[in-house]
Amino acid sequence: KEKSGLKDFLHINDFDKTTILKILDRALEVKALLKSGERTFLPFKGKTMAMIFAKPSMRTRVSFETGFFLLGGHALYLGPDDIQMGKREETRDVARVLSGYNDIIMARVFAHQDILDLSKYATVPVINGLTDYNHPCQIMADALTIIEHIGQLEGTKVVYVGDGNNIVHSWLLLAAVVPFHFVCACPKGFEPDEKTVQKAQQAGISKIEITNDPKEAVRGADVVYSDVWASMGQKEEASYRRQVFQGFQVDEPLMKLAGSKAYFMHCLPAERGVEVTDGVIEAPNSIVFPQAENRMHAQNAIMLHVLGL
Ligand code: CP
Ligand code: NVA
Repeated sequence: KEKSGLKDFLHINDFDKTTILKILDRALEVKALLKSGERTFLPFKGKTMAMIFAKPSMRTRVSFETGFFLLGGHALYLGPDDIQMGKREETRDVARVLSGYNDIIMARVFAHQDILDLSKYATVPVINGLTDYNHPCQIMADALTIIEHIGQLEGTKVVYVGDGNNIVHSWLLLAAVVPFHFVCACPKGFEPDEKTVQKAQQAGISKIEITNDPKEAVRGADVVYSDVWASMGQKEEASYRRQVFQGFQVDEPLMKLAGSKAYFMHCLPAERGVEVTDGVIEAPNSIVFPQAENRMHAQNAIMLHVLGL
């Protein structure tokens, strides 16, 4: 695959800083083109993409399908009941069969090993649309949104408040490549994966802090970021988590502690009144909808990159 110039997009730190910033630049460029109404840039003409979803999705599905179409391609949605990867058929068989029909495979799966297996056996680029471990396309869109609103990612303080989950792992892996200040404030026992924290710290690129004190963490933040307390696959733990995560809701007093320059971000879907208040998500400094839109623009640039276009 690599020999022919094709790449996978599985983890942000599979790429160096120059490449990540180049993809983000490209995203801005193609975004401006699409916003201008220009519809003659069709690099994906004659190409198809298989999109495997073992979990529900709005943003990932619609942004990939729409983005690929706007640039000339055709995307196929394969839902949880369609191919039942690993159940009806082994992942390595799915990878090879879909590679015979498609130019890209995008997948949202539970076990991270599933995306690694797809990557190993596919002969076309594989893009990670979220696993239990990470969500690289989301954090690329988030970085793009920060660049648009703050001017640059380098030097900004991003404070994530909540569960040390897949979103946090992708923030850490971005911090291993591009310098900024990343803080994760989470309840005891809900810290991000230790190996990933070490990897990010040992890279020596960014200032990284893991804490159990959200009030202290948010001081001087440029961005306060939140995500659901119970991720997909953990919904039966939701009521237990609501108790443990008391004090980790992003509410108006917490945003006040962060200061007036702080933007609010959330990957969505949000549970209003749980991890974030309605007031915070609707406030003028909340940029959750431009952030959601940027999924499409970041991914368009990622798809161009993995195809060597
Ligand atoms: N943020 C995100 O990935 O949303 P979906 O689950 O709707 O795709
Ligand atoms: N942490 C969340 C992110 C959803 C986009 C989940 O995995 O459900």
